[in-house]
Amino acid sequence: MKHLEAGNNLLLGVTGGIAAYKSVELARLFIKAGVNVRVVMTEAATRFVNPITFQAITGETVRVDLFDQAHEAAMGHIELARWADHLLIAPATGDFLARMAHGLADDLLSTLYLACPAQVSVAPAMNVHMWEHDATRRNVSRLIEQGVQVLGPALGEQACGDTGPGRMLEAAEIVSSLMYSSEAGLFAGRKVVVTAGPTREAVDPVRFISNRSSGKMGFALAEAFAAEGAEVVLVSGPVNRDDPPGIQRIDVISAQQMYEAVFKHLPGADVFAACAAVADYRPANPQPQKLKKNGEHLELKLVKNPDILAEVAALSDGPFTLGFAAETQKLVENARSKLTSKGIDMIAANLVGKGRGFDLEDNALKVLWSDGEADLPMQSKKNLARALISLVAEQYVRE
Ligand code: PMT
Repeated sequence: MKHLEAGNNLLLGVTGGIAAYKSVELARLFIKAGVNVRVVMTEAATRFVNPITFQAITGETVRVDLFDQAHEAAMGHIELARWADHLLIAPATGDFLARMAHGLADDLLSTLYLACPAQVSVAPAMNVHMWEHDATRRNVSRLIEQGVQVLGPALGEQACGDTGPGRMLEAAEIVSSLMYSSEAGLFAGRKVVVTAGPTREAVDPVRFISNRSSGKMGFALAEAFAAEGAEVVLVSGPVNRDDPPGIQRIDVISAQQMYEAVFKHLPGADVFAACAAVADYRPANPQPQKLKKNGEHLELKLVKNPDILAEVAALSDGPFTLGFAAETQKLVENARSKLTSKGIDMIAANLVGKGRGFDLEDNALKVLWSDGEADLPMQSKKNLARALISLVAEQYVRE
């Protein structure tokens, strides 16, 4: 099945169920991922969400009526059907699935289903008894025979109070299954754990020691692995970033919490990529109350944090390890010494400091491994992440 990519055109059909509110977030996430989105709603869907909401999110007119003279003078529905690289109907109600299965075309969206040559997916949403009814089961089987991809539904508590299958998948899950293949890609079938962002080490309840990491590089790395088919767990320190679609994100504050989260999610991991700027030391005695200003000097005693990367690398049957080296001088020399002292497979070294590395959109990396090296010149962190994981794939496969 061809996956959607940035730049593709997605026609999002919204039918009349309570889950229609989730489709607003769905449209937003697709747009964020670079997909062009146009929305078509059934009349019933407009009872749940106002078309203006989708119009504001997509910047495109939302179509509802098949007999809309302004658009149909030039056979607008056929033009719309041709425009789409993918037709996704989410939520798809029991009624709408039935109409699709039987080829009815009595409104704009059902007409588009018949007229659209592109791949069609549905994300069903309905009460558990409706989903399990023989009539629905037959309709869904028929749609699968017609080549329709069925996403979900999920199990769980429903708006009506019943529990079981019938909930529409979460928006991020739908984006992930349409955009990120788990059957193809450099890391298909692999599990990757990534750390990102800074850690905060408490001095007292209101103060902490930290650094300037924004999480941009680590998040770009996690997204690049996911785009290449990996199952990704992203352990992130405190950053101001949206959840990347299709990625399990674990938020932590301190180095100790990051250490625990990494080891909790490490079993089964094939690659560990440590991009977080983890504090090497933490205050030995964080104070339960705010420190008072007493005297001219204040001495803070610091103790060493666990080195997460080095401990993962020391595992006898551990994953491939990619570390980062943030240096203000002697980039290659210091990075090579970290590669050896931490016992890792690969290190991506970057110069940091004034106007370099932290919190910027662009970066450059010198990548080192035991018997080789590569220069990745200044470019966006997203592109850098893609180039870096290609190097990981080459070295990982070689192992
Ligand atoms: O987040 P951004 O604003 O986009 O900035 C990106 C970045 C500059 C933070 C990133 O490119 C980077 O260099 N990350 C590593 C920062 C760092 O802590 O480097 P280090 O040289 O101190 O640590 C070496 C390696 O050991 C790193 O992979 C680090 O994650 C890991 N480490 C360090 C200490 C520790 N206690 N545990 C660790 O796992």
